Amino acid sequence: MAAPGVLLLLLLGCSVAVLAVQLSTNNANPVVDEFKSVELSCKIHSTITNEPRIEWKKIWNADTSYVYFNNTIQGDLKGRARIQAKSSLVILNASRTDTGKYRCEVAAIGDDKKIDELYITLTVQVKPVTPKCTVPKSVPVGKSAVLHCHESEGYPRSTYSWHHNGESLPADSKADPKFVNSSFLLDRTTGTLTFSAVNKGDMGRYYCLASNDAGSAMCGEQVLEVYDLNIGGIVGGILVVVLVLSLITAGICCAYRKGYFASRSRSTGQSYKNPAKPEGVNYLRTNDEGDFRHKSSFVI
Ligand SMILES: *[C@@H]1O[C@H](CO)[C@@H](O)[C@H](O)[C@H]1NC(C)=O
Ligand SMILES: *[C@@H]1O[C@H](CO)[C@@H](O)[C@H](O)[C@H]1NC(C)=O
Ligand SMILES: *[C@@H]1O[C@H](CO)[C@@H](O)[C@H](O)[C@H]1NC(C)=O
Repeated sequence: MAAPGVLLLLLLGCSVAVLAVQLSTNNANPVVDEFKSVELSCKIHSTITNEPRIEWKKIWNADTSYVYFNNTIQGDLKGRARIQAKSSLVILNASRTDTGKYRCEVAAIGDDKKIDELYITLTVQVKPVTPKCTVPKSVPVGKSAVLHCHESEGYPRSTYSWHHNGESLPADSKADPKFVNSSFLLDRTTGTLTFSAVNKGDMGRYYCLASNDAGSAMCGEQVLEVYDLNIGGIVGGILVVVLVLSLITAGICCAYRKGYFASRSRSTGQSYKNPAKPEGVNYLRTNDEGDFRHKSSFVI
């Protein structure tokens, strides 16, 4: 009694499955490097007609545009894509602008209800280009220093590493005993390497590497000099200058005291009371002009 019922149900189930359009994909999230070929797989499992209507659309932000319509590749992909195995889309030379969500739609002609669709999310990876790097030329010991590295082409976004004399630096100098004498932080997402206080050991050659899943690119090495701000030397230099100035002053004083300038005045036939140099005389010998006079004549 139950057997015919079960049979009927089975028949109904089969016929429903046969009548419907059914799609599947090998890979709903393909990833490809720019300029390479990629398949957006959309396979028809069953349909009632041999000539179903196949369409591909691209959904980007709020826009939907035709990619394959009326048996022709449309728009931007024209000449760069083809249909393979009836309903899969192959992009032959992927461009970074191809990144996005695609919809494969297959309809059994003549019956709009017999339709299925599936979504493929394509990621086109772009290699980083040579990053722009800035390294300060010369920094005094103990001062802060910032090294920059950046490039904007890479997709997914590049991450950065800095290398000092060929050795890769950790994100935090405190995390590695090898860098115990350094004090830097590296932000791998921005490419900025910040020294809070440079050390003699930080001197040397630096380069930066920008990398993502598609590849990497580096900037040319640049040299960072670290010099001593020699306080002892500076103080010594100032002392020497002060000493030299004192000696000169003392020399001039002596010359005045010994009447060198006065005698010169007198030799031109003028008195040493010559108003040409009164301040000097007064300054040196404020209230003892007699002594001055005496010494002057003594020298001569
Ligand atoms: C579809 O393509 C055929 C030629 O392949 C053309 O004659 C027809 O006008 C096209 N239809 C539309 C709606 O573009
Ligand atoms: C792919 O496209 C780029 C431009 O987008 C072009 O320079 C390159 O020659 C193309 N490669 C091939 C194999 O067609
Ligand atoms: C850190 O500095 C000290 C003292 O100048 C030195 O002895 C040591 O070797 C340095 N360590 C490293 C890893 O350079």
